[in-house]
Amino acid sequence: MSEKKLTGEVYFPPKDVVKYANARCEKLYESASEDIEAFWASEAKNLFWHKKWSQVLDDSNKPFYKWFVGAKTNIAYNCLDVHCQTPRRNKLALIWEGEKGEFHSFSYFALHRETCKFANILKSLGVKKGDRVTLYMGRIPELVIGMLACARIGAIHSVVYGGFSVEALHERLEDSQSKVLIVADGAWQRGKIIELKNIADEALQRAATVESVLVVKRTGHQINMESGRDMWYHELMNLPIANNSDCLEVVDAEDPLFMLYTSGTTGKPKAILHTHGGYMVGTYTTLKYVFDIHEEDRYWCAADPGWITGHSYIVYGPLLNGATSFLYEGAPTYPYPHRWWQMIEKYGINILYTAPTAIRGLMRFGDAWPNRYDLSSLRLLGSVGEPINPEAWRWYYKVIGKEQCPIMDTWWQTETGMFMITPMPCTPLKPGSGTKPFPGIVADVVDEAGNSVKPNEEGYLVIKTPWPSMLRTIWNDPDRYVNQYWSKYPGMYMTGDSARKDEDGYFWIIGRVDDVIKVSGYRLGTAEIESALVSHPAVAEAAAIGLPHEVKGNAIYSYVILRSGYEKTDKLLEELRLHVGHEVGPIAKPEQVEVVDQLPKTRSGKIMRRVLKARALGQDPGNLSTLEE
Ligand code: WT7
Repeated sequence: MSEKKLTGEVYFPPKDVVKYANARCEKLYESASEDIEAFWASEAKNLFWHKKWSQVLDDSNKPFYKWFVGAKTNIAYNCLDVHCQTPRRNKLALIWEGEKGEFHSFSYFALHRETCKFANILKSLGVKKGDRVTLYMGRIPELVIGMLACARIGAIHSVVYGGFSVEALHERLEDSQSKVLIVADGAWQRGKIIELKNIADEALQRAATVESVLVVKRTGHQINMESGRDMWYHELMNLPIANNSDCLEVVDAEDPLFMLYTSGTTGKPKAILHTHGGYMVGTYTTLKYVFDIHEEDRYWCAADPGWITGHSYIVYGPLLNGATSFLYEGAPTYPYPHRWWQMIEKYGINILYTAPTAIRGLMRFGDAWPNRYDLSSLRLLGSVGEPINPEAWRWYYKVIGKEQCPIMDTWWQTETGMFMITPMPCTPLKPGSGTKPFPGIVADVVDEAGNSVKPNEEGYLVIKTPWPSMLRTIWNDPDRYVNQYWSKYPGMYMTGDSARKDEDGYFWIIGRVDDVIKVSGYRLGTAEIESALVSHPAVAEAAAIGLPHEVKGNAIYSYVILRSGYEKTDKLLEELRLHVGHEVGPIAKPEQVEVVDQLPKTRSGKIMRRVLKARALGQDPGNLSTLEE
């Protein structure tokens, strides 16, 4: 690839990295393009299957694809037991640092032991294969243990990000019909306690299916424990039943592993469903090649386990690869902006994977903070969540990576489960581009009619062939699955992003084409924010849009029409902001709430957000022929 002259600003991978990684990534594109199924099957053979598949891909009922049909396995078994049968059992699987500086580590042996104990507890509470368990915690090891314990017994985990609040949690408990909730008493964030258990108590008042609540003690502050329903995790883990014999449930490759809620075009968040077999093959393979994980690596994905990035690349991917995964509880700049760099030095982190918003946030404090630390252990860097602006890319590359670490700008989604468009360590890089589709992935940029557009023209980003870790459906809503992703162009997966491809075939993501806003890399739906606003008695109608923001990428601006009898005061506007925070979560709080008399709507009554956006940015709103008023 490097022989061809590439256009634009290009960075070639440092020699050392190529030497290290080349054997693993050079020939992959070629072999995968020859036969996609054979490529995935050969990767799958590196994992443990209790029974082998009879068919790699079953596409007889599109778009309900099946992978590794007939196979039996368990992803948690592959994450833990497999390593415990080798000398790797004494190697660290997980290193954790708390915001207050506490430290805890788990060898593969220890993580396996804790997972089995917790799996036995869940079983003794009546959790069976296929039951849903919701987890609502900060970044603590018990979240990882909880996810793996569910997977081990074939229960479906549903992790709700600890930054979400009452209504968001309630909706997710209700929709998933969870039997058990695992919650922490609280979470540390910038020296303050987020009252997770209190929020959960409020959400539980209306969640009828939850029978048991297991509470992890993290902050130790006073909380309410409802007798008969709430139990302490640490007490349960000391019961003799925790040491019952092995509780492994060997499952079908296509059995569900987890559901994860994400925002879409309508107000109701949708649960994306992933399975044991295909997801395991996808996350294992992509992490191995893209971050070139080796036995001795210490790898840090600074996302939250509550999002897909954490599921795939803090928990499952690194453990499947037998690496050491690092987890940090707190904020990057707490108590000072040196915190991350200090931990990279302290633990000798080799690979750092984070989001553009975090990079921009840290960059603001200047070079002196990172320069004070020895970051020479770093070999590779990663970025995810939104397009990275070239300025942040260069800072990351020069100041953090010392021009020695290639940056893997990985484009993917909750739905895709794994990296889809991404460099590998041998790929020449262009700041701001995710470069090329991963081997075995066929991506394209198309026009309204589904035809490929010319180089550098903007269009819809689509994926043209199935891949193992693709979502299987939307929980309880197969029609929405078909309509949302597969109906615009039959046979092509619609990503919801717009993009362009340059003359070298490099992909450049532009942004969402639907009503999804990425705030600090978090995905939020305009409809969720709007429905939170109208749930306040003062609001008759509401609209939310995303506008560019220097650190967050996008920030939320909202417009409301007040009900008669309410007056526009600063107090009311602040109350509305806080109300959204209470209903959805602090990340969804609008920067600004503006009172208007009217909202631009189409004749069918749909809010024309692009008109609001153009107005806010002082731009031409374009074609207004469908505007009612
Ligand atoms: C959306 C998916 C997948 C992990 C985190 C987000 C945007 C994601 C990139 C990137 C440009 C990106 C897209 C995508 N996105 N990674 N490297 N460059 N945009 O998962 O919450 O499901 O969001 O995030 O718009 O559709 P998610």
